[in-house]
Amino acid sequence: MKVLVTGGCGYIGSHTCVELLENGYEVVVVDNLSNSKKDVVDKIKKITKHDLTFYQGDVCNLTLMDQIFAKEKIDAVIHFAAYKAVGESVTNPLKYYQNNLDSTIVLCEVMSKYNVKKLVFSSSATVYGNPKKLPIKESFALSPTNPYGKTKLMIENILKDLYISDNTWSIAVLRYFNPVGAHESGLIGEDPNGIPNNLMPYIMKVATNELPYLNIFGDDYDTIDGTGVRDYIHVVDLSKGHIKAIEKVLQDTGIDYYNLGTGCGYSVLEIVNTFAKVNNVKINYKIVSRRPGDIACCYADPSYAYEKLKWRATKGIEDMCRDSYSFVMKNKEHGYKNK
Ligand code: NAD
Ligand code: UFG
Repeated sequence: MKVLVTGGCGYIGSHTCVELLENGYEVVVVDNLSNSKKDVVDKIKKITKHDLTFYQGDVCNLTLMDQIFAKEKIDAVIHFAAYKAVGESVTNPLKYYQNNLDSTIVLCEVMSKYNVKKLVFSSSATVYGNPKKLPIKESFALSPTNPYGKTKLMIENILKDLYISDNTWSIAVLRYFNPVGAHESGLIGEDPNGIPNNLMPYIMKVATNELPYLNIFGDDYDTIDGTGVRDYIHVVDLSKGHIKAIEKVLQDTGIDYYNLGTGCGYSVLEIVNTFAKVNNVKINYKIVSRRPGDIACCYADPSYAYEKLKWRATKGIEDMCRDSYSFVMKNKEHGYKNK
């Protein structure tokens, strides 16, 4: 079975390529390297001792995508390629609507043309907005609060209409909670450009003294210690969820939606303290005002993914903190530079 992975050089895509190769799939990656580096391809090969085919290019490029499908005999697609920075999507919404929507529409057009109708799509817990109840179930109301999240909901709707128009499609929409951690080899992990927006990459930069302290955005939420609570999921667990989703779409037709989270919420302070403890490092922080648009608490009910995909997360918060730090330390030793 040959799987096309769009955005396969990125954070979640690269870990998923590893899982695919280790599970006997052939892998073709298309990535324009707008938020990743080409050396990730060699690292995936090194980890798995398997080859993969890499196309450097844009999923929005219909000619390129047509050429890829004409040349490769693709059986299924996992579509990661997208822009994902919430803050930037607020200041530059057109960039997000253009890339995230165009890439999906071009991809689906070409898939239709070549009769490849098996798709796994990366959505996000951000589609739920500020949930009225917890834990979050797939059936909850969807109301994203920023342009990035709106692109994800729009794509979910496009995919639903596509299935309604042609029910030979088979689509799994995966709503990720907060992916963190890195592959145990320390070769691949999250390596964001510039100053990170997300908690774990920011903590990693404080741990390595690249940034002086963490700003904790508010300690007056109605949570265990006043700081925001999220459902952090190890990226390797998340990637294994994609293998289950690919197996599912290869067997069935239909469109379905799955929360990929652990079901456990941890506060910012719990993450900071666990990271400091397991890695024996000090994480300096300051409490500052709330970040606009943040919600107090967000965690999944992942039981539907277990029922339908037989998938559940197995790694805990200590693994996530340990593997994140080991990735950053390993890459620092090998000349990791802040981009
Ligand atoms: P990432 O930025 O590390 O990976 C995305 C990859 O896609 C990058 O390698 C980038 O170069 C590539 N890309 C972007 N636009 C492209 C295009 N038009 N053509 C070709 N390549 C393109 O992001 P990630 O964290 O690995 O996220 C993967 C997917 O999961 C995204 O769709 C993202 O929205 C979604 N997601 C991520 C998170 C998270 O917190 N990381 C949470 C929920 C959902
Ligand atoms: N936080 C800080 N300081 C920081 C960064 C974050 O205190 O420097 C706090 C936030 O206030 C929040 C928690 O840490 O309480 C997690 O914040 P992240 O930015 O890491 O993650 P979010 O839950 O805000 O959003 C992330 C992705 C979205 C995605 C969402 C759900 O950025 O794209 O998870 O998957 F949609």
